[in-house]
Amino acid sequence: MQRLVAGKRANPADDLLSGLVHDADPPLTDAQLVDVALVLLGAGHETTANMLSLGAFALLEHPDQLAALRNDSTLIDNAVEELLRYLTIVQLGVSRVTTEPVTLGGVDLPACATVVIATPEANRDPQHWPDPDRLDVHRPRTSHLAFGHGIHQCLGQQLARIEMRIGLRELITRLPGLRMAVPAEQVPLRNEMLIFGVHSLPVTWS
Ligand code: HEM
Repeated sequence: MQRLVAGKRANPADDLLSGLVHDADPPLTDAQLVDVALVLLGAGHETTANMLSLGAFALLEHPDQLAALRNDSTLIDNAVEELLRYLTIVQLGVSRVTTEPVTLGGVDLPACATVVIATPEANRDPQHWPDPDRLDVHRPRTSHLAFGHGIHQCLGQQLARIEMRIGLRELITRLPGLRMAVPAEQVPLRNEMLIFGVHSLPVTWS
């Protein structure tokens, strides 16, 4: 990333990083530019890439839901929100620091405590979603925590939604015979990563 920043400093092009290198006001140092670029790469690419592949996996493993989506493409917006809720791929990324003593869920916390929010758990809260462990593309749209909450809520969420709508819609329309090429239990899951997903998703189609 340092090499990339240095390259854009020497030879600007019509791209986001060149814009940040040359037009940020006040200017950013190289160290800051590297940090911003890394956040954009991690937050902007790893998330949507995994959401697309894991979303495809979830649909292939729920043929009734996949069929419902194939039969009615207007369900795509619903399906994307439901997949975001059901999969909640950023599992430990939402954390906050208390600014004053506070009681949360019956636990007394001092000021300056770090709170890590268990978003996968929150997104399966039965008080909000009946039968929360069920993937249901017909589920009415409700707010979920897959993009976090409040002032730091995901900056790229609208782009992510568009990528998923287009990506999943095109995948299932262009490849009607899409199916898994290996049994589900052989798919290598990213259990050890901050952003959940699959290391690979072997599929085939006819
Ligand atoms: C399905 C895709 C995505 C998911 C599930 C996701 C999820 C999240 C989550 C959970 C947070 C933390 C929010 C909080 O602390 O309240 C976050 C923050 C962020 N996301 Fe995303 N994200 C996705 C795609 C993207 C994309 C495409 C971009 C940019 C192109 C992006 C840029 C960011 C940035 C810059 C932050 C930090 C915001 C801040 O701290 O103020 N994300 N995202």
